[in-house]
Amino acid sequence: MALRTIITAPDPRLKLVSDPLQEVDDTTRRLMDDMLETMYDAPGIGLAAVQIGVPKRVIVMDLAKEKEGEPKKPMFFVNPKLIWASDEKAICEEGCLSVPDLYEEVERPARVKVSYVDYFGKDQQLDADGMLAVCLQHEMDHLEGTLFIDHLSRLKREMMLKKLIKARKAAEREVAE
Ligand code: NI
Repeated sequence: MALRTIITAPDPRLKLVSDPLQEVDDTTRRLMDDMLETMYDAPGIGLAAVQIGVPKRVIVMDLAKEKEGEPKKPMFFVNPKLIWASDEKAICEEGCLSVPDLYEEVERPARVKVSYVDYFGKDQQLDADGMLAVCLQHEMDHLEGTLFIDHLSRLKREMMLKKLIKARKAAEREVAE
C-alpha cells in the first residue's frame, strides 16, 4: 500500500467525470487499498479516486473510525449508482479532503438506495440514511466532478475558493522560506 497525494480545490482535475470500471481486479484492489490508507492518514471518512487524480468510479469510506477505539469498518464502492432517493431532505455540515478545513451545511435527500460492486467484484445494494447517506452522496458527487461547495450559493462558493487559494499560497510561502 502507498500513500497518494490528495488534490485540493480549485483544481481542474476535480471537475473530471470519472469512468466506470469494467471489472474489479487486483489493480483495482490495490487502488482501493491505497485510497483507504490515504484516507485514514488524512484523516477523513470518505475518498473518491478522482481526489488522488484517478478519474475512475471508485469510492472508499469508513464511518467507524471517528469514534475512538472502534474497529475499522472500511467500505468499498465501485461503479455506485443511485437507484432511489427520498423526497425528505436532511441538512448536514460537510467537509471534504479536497476542500481542507472548510465546512458548510448542505441539503440532500435524507435516505438513498445505491447499487454498486464491492471489493470482491460482487454486485451489492445498500439502503442508507443518516451520516452514511450524506457521505455516499458526497462521494458519488465527486464521480461527476461535483464538490460539496457546488451545492452552495455562488457567493459562498467563491468565498470558500478564495480562502483555499489564500491558504495554499501561505503554505507555499512557508515551504519556500
Ligand atoms: Ni469530498
